[in-house]
Amino acid sequence: MYEGDIASVLITEQQIDEKVTELAKQVADDYPADRSDLVLVGVLKGAVMFMTDLARALPIPVQLEFMAVSSYGSATSSSGVVRILKDLDRDIAGRNVLIVEDIIDSGLTLSWLLKNLESRNPASLEVCTLLRKPDAVKVDVPVKYVGFEIPNEFVVGYGLDYAERYRDLPYIGTLDPKVYSS
Ligand code: XMP
Ligand code: MG
Repeated sequence: MYEGDIASVLITEQQIDEKVTELAKQVADDYPADRSDLVLVGVLKGAVMFMTDLARALPIPVQLEFMAVSSYGSATSSSGVVRILKDLDRDIAGRNVLIVEDIIDSGLTLSWLLKNLESRNPASLEVCTLLRKPDAVKVDVPVKYVGFEIPNEFVVGYGLDYAERYRDLPYIGTLDPKVYSS
């Protein structure tokens, strides 16, 4: 599939699988099941694969919510100016909320999202991201759960896209530069 487009495999399907199990254990330890169900807020579309795998790996009941946001910027970097394309279906006031992200790059999208959700008065608000790039340290956003720290390269697969393609790859890889330039 996508033969010749992927320059290298950065994280294999098995590595993702093991990491999801590990993150699910950490999350479950922090949220005793005797409180109200944890609300996972997935950020569309990139976080979909991670969110559904994480939800199934968690041994506690969770509810699934999704948000779609668009950040004004180029195709491969964001500006921090965010618009809500799809909002949550339900009120999160008084709920324990965990934002599930595919990747944090500049951290600008997440920083905006945290402020936005915080204003809805959840009981708690934390972030779980599968990937984090080095630039993310520049913005002071608290991220409790991080799967992999990755180098500053554009990656695709397992939900992540380039021009809406490659989301369906079961692993995470880097794109061959010829894809951008064609
Ligand atoms: P910021 O910079 O606000 O942006 O943290 C996070 C969003 O930018 C996208 N993004 C990527 N998407 N491969 C992708 O497919 C990447 O390497 C990449 N880096 C950033 C992504 O939508 C993420 O939610
Ligand atoms: Mg994207």
